[in-house]
Amino acid sequence: MRIHELTPEERAVYDTLKPERLPQHVAIIMDGNGRWAGSRSLKRFLGHQQGAKSVQMVTETASRIGLPWLTLYAFSLENNLRRPRAEVNFLMRLLKSYLEGNVKRMMDNNVRIRYIGRTHELPAGVQDTMQWAAETTARNTGTTLTLALNYGGRSEMVDAIRGLVAEMKHKHIAPSHITEEDIHRHLYTAHMPDPDLLIRTSGEMRISNYLLWQIAYTEIFVTDRLWPDFRGIHLLEAIADFQRRERRFGGLGDNVLATDEEAEQYKIAVS
Ligand code: FPP
Repeated sequence: MRIHELTPEERAVYDTLKPERLPQHVAIIMDGNGRWAGSRSLKRFLGHQQGAKSVQMVTETASRIGLPWLTLYAFSLENNLRRPRAEVNFLMRLLKSYLEGNVKRMMDNNVRIRYIGRTHELPAGVQDTMQWAAETTARNTGTTLTLALNYGGRSEMVDAIRGLVAEMKHKHIAPSHITEEDIHRHLYTAHMPDPDLLIRTSGEMRISNYLLWQIAYTEIFVTDRLWPDFRGIHLLEAIADFQRRERRFGGLGDNVLATDEEAEQYKIAVS
């Protein structure tokens, strides 16, 4: 942890947090780059460029507070098919130059970078840079920054089921023996804990096919702030909101009936 490197504003929010209840894994749907640019009469790509700055700033704050896992939805599989070709090409170049320009900072911040998604479908030159960045930062022990690239939650499940079925055939495992843990082992995220907190910027109340399996019990925080305006302090504010919630993991609150006798006292008329 490098709390002393937080800005005074970040430090003020951090000091309100309970250190024992910091999330282990924060996932973010980065949305609103296009609107950010549009509201300034700028071309959309300038919103993406500014969004890349937010990626850097938020990652560095995450590393300063010792957040172990940060997973950012960078390019969805569906969105990449729908965006104009020139914008997709720009995003690819932006990712490549982001990695080239930021590996040094990742080393300074002890950040390890990884990827999830059908990354083998990305342009070869981008894949080379991705691999170089992952290998260079592989031994860092601070925050693991995972970029979801060419990612879709349903296609992740398809890939997981393909892997699991192949394993079952190979090991002669009967379908009735499949467990949740078996599915987990075949997801792209097999090596990480599920997110505790999912943040979505730009006010949309949607999951957009992100980490569908993994967010079963995740707390969701939606902010109207557009991604290019999102900074480390907003990450800390989202964590503060998260800490004010009671997490139940599918369980119940403390107003449960304790015994059958207690239940007998309530003569419930259902008409
Ligand atoms: C949504 O904006 C955002 C994205 C396209 C994904 C995030 C991409 C970046 C932050 C660019 C750089 C990424 C890295 C990892 C360097 P949108 O175009 O959907 O916005 P809109 O909904 O306002 O149109």
